Amino acid sequence: MRIDVVTIFPEIVSQALDFSIMARAQDAGAVSFGVHNPRDFAEDAHRMVDDAPYGGGAGMVMKPEPLTACIEAIARDDNPAIILMTPQGERFDQETARRLTAQDHLVLICGHYEGTDERVRESLVTHEISIGDYVLTGGELPALVVIDAVVRLLPGVRGDSTSAARDSFEDGLLEHPHYTRPPEFRGMRVPDTLVEGDHADVDRWRRRMSLQRTLRRRPDLFARAPLSDDDRDLLAEIVLSGTQKRRR
Ligand code: ADE
Repeated sequence: MRIDVVTIFPEIVSQALDFSIMARAQDAGAVSFGVHNPRDFAEDAHRMVDDAPYGGGAGMVMKPEPLTACIEAIARDDNPAIILMTPQGERFDQETARRLTAQDHLVLICGHYEGTDERVRESLVTHEISIGDYVLTGGELPALVVIDAVVRLLPGVRGDSTSAARDSFEDGLLEHPHYTRPPEFRGMRVPDTLVEGDHADVDRWRRRMSLQRTLRRRPDLFARAPLSDDDRDLLAEIVLSGTQKRRR
């Protein structure tokens, strides 16, 4: 996959992509990154990328010409997904991350100031993504969130190919808790089932914890999570033991 980022703060983005799994993914050839500054495409003496809004009002708007020239220089003829990061976009989630892994080329545009000239959106942008219902000062952090979530799913990026399938949200539920050595830490013991290591018991324990966590923290996820008959039995057990505990 090729990922290009259009940003007036290229250092923020390049630095973040130079560490940990993003850097390893690049070294392994699973992805290549490009970071581009629309200011380099501004033709006026001051290399302006923003201007006052027509109709008046506070703040500045990103000008269409440098942004368009920058995007067109990147998106030559391979029909990339051109994604504008904006709080007005489609809410980003694991399903969107997985869907984006099917693309060969992503171009992420980091908006700034009060907004981006609407004509860029109309003529070039193919997707608009928001990372949540809050407003940040720019699209750099949102773009990095999307890149991280997508790249970690690409083949060859993480050693254990099954671990992505068990992530929170991949099966519509939150993931079970994790433990490592030591078996006892400040009086808190690792659950016996995990230490004893019988595979079937471990799987059942994990599924139960995953259902229990989802029920307590994100019951809204059950509206869409595919559940088996065993899951329903486990859920009934969890609900019942909760009621019994409250009665005691
Ligand atoms: N730019 C500013 N806030 C944003 C958000 N919540 N998501 C995506 N891009 C943004």
